Amino acid sequence: MKKKILIIGAEGFVGSNLAYSLNQNNNNEIYLLDIINRKKLKNLKLNKLKNCKYLQANILNNKNLKKIKQHKFSIIYHLASLVGVEKIIDTSETIKSIIIGTQNVISNFVRKNTKFIFASTSEVYGNNPKLPWNENDQMLIGTYDSPRWDYAKCKSIMENYIIELSKKRNFQFLILRFFNIYGPRQSKYFLISKIIEKCKKNQICKIYFPGNQTRCFTFVDDVINFMTSLSLIKTKFNQVINIGSNKKSKVIQIVKLIKKLTKSKSKIKIVKLGKINNTTFKDVINRQPDISKIKKLYKWKPTTKIEDGIKKTISFFNN
Ligand SMILES: NC(=O)c1ccc[n+]([C@@H]2O[C@H](COP(=O)([O-])OP(=O)(O)OC[C@H]3O[C@@H](n4cnc5c(N)ncnc54)[C@H](O)[C@@H]3O)[C@@H](O)[C@H]2O)c1
Repeated sequence: MKKKILIIGAEGFVGSNLAYSLNQNNNNEIYLLDIINRKKLKNLKLNKLKNCKYLQANILNNKNLKKIKQHKFSIIYHLASLVGVEKIIDTSETIKSIIIGTQNVISNFVRKNTKFIFASTSEVYGNNPKLPWNENDQMLIGTYDSPRWDYAKCKSIMENYIIELSKKRNFQFLILRFFNIYGPRQSKYFLISKIIEKCKKNQICKIYFPGNQTRCFTFVDDVINFMTSLSLIKTKFNQVINIGSNKKSKVIQIVKLIKKLTKSKSKIKIVKLGKINNTTFKDVINRQPDISKIKKLYKWKPTTKIEDGIKKTISFFNN
């Protein structure tokens, strides 16, 4: 019998890359759910996804979801969320998207023994100065006057909700705290895809002050390899895990590397991160995961060097 898999937020960056990967296994029957109208899909080329069926639905609309409810999915990847600084500054929208959306998903689709994979984020560690962050480290979320933290708060509260509910409803979960993923199919709002775009057009590359903040950029294929493997295993669920590269890069170095690889004439400008749509926005200066848990439990580690990942991303955007 085929394995029924549901990807929620499937037209997005992570979701679409996961769909192509899971599609390679003919034993999979994959359902791709997203709010985007099928005629407007860009990442999902449905003619290339023979083992997939597309379902347009808004996870905030329970009536929509009830129509899909009859399916029994053995594994669900819940990736739908508002993502990105410009989108997460309206607290009520953030709450709806992450809290109400996830509650609806669980109440409609998660049954006894379902494996439920929840996309969380490195943002939950807030501004904790102790690096690298392991899963049990403190969450030092910023002050009330910067709603950008509401994204982290909502993701964090849903982590606890899932852990608690899994005991009552007898399902299995895995909470993945993603660290700065990049690669093909990412929208142009995120650093690496944005800078590639600017460099290709020889336009000014703006980065936020001071420029030497560090991130651990993780190539999407490394993350997808891990996520795909979850469809094949029966144990090792019920965990919260960091997933990402543990190699730090300065933002300015990454921009210079992209400039070099694209042979661009772009100028780099360092700008202050002040207010976005009248909302105070504070950047996290350094971010680095401790990945010893995922290495030990699942024998996973990232294998793509940053230069190779960026080259692959550039070549994807060139075609
Ligand atoms: N990309 C990263 O580096 C990163 C880092 C940390 C956490 N995450 C988390 O991983 C997940 C996937 O991120 P991504 O980069 O692929 O984001 P993305 O924005 O590319 O994809 C999200 C998808 O969810 C869909 N969606 C949003 N609201 C919906 C709704 N109400 N109903 C149905 N579909 C809806 C969107 O249309 C979109 O296709 C998110 O939950 C995000 O919070 C991503």
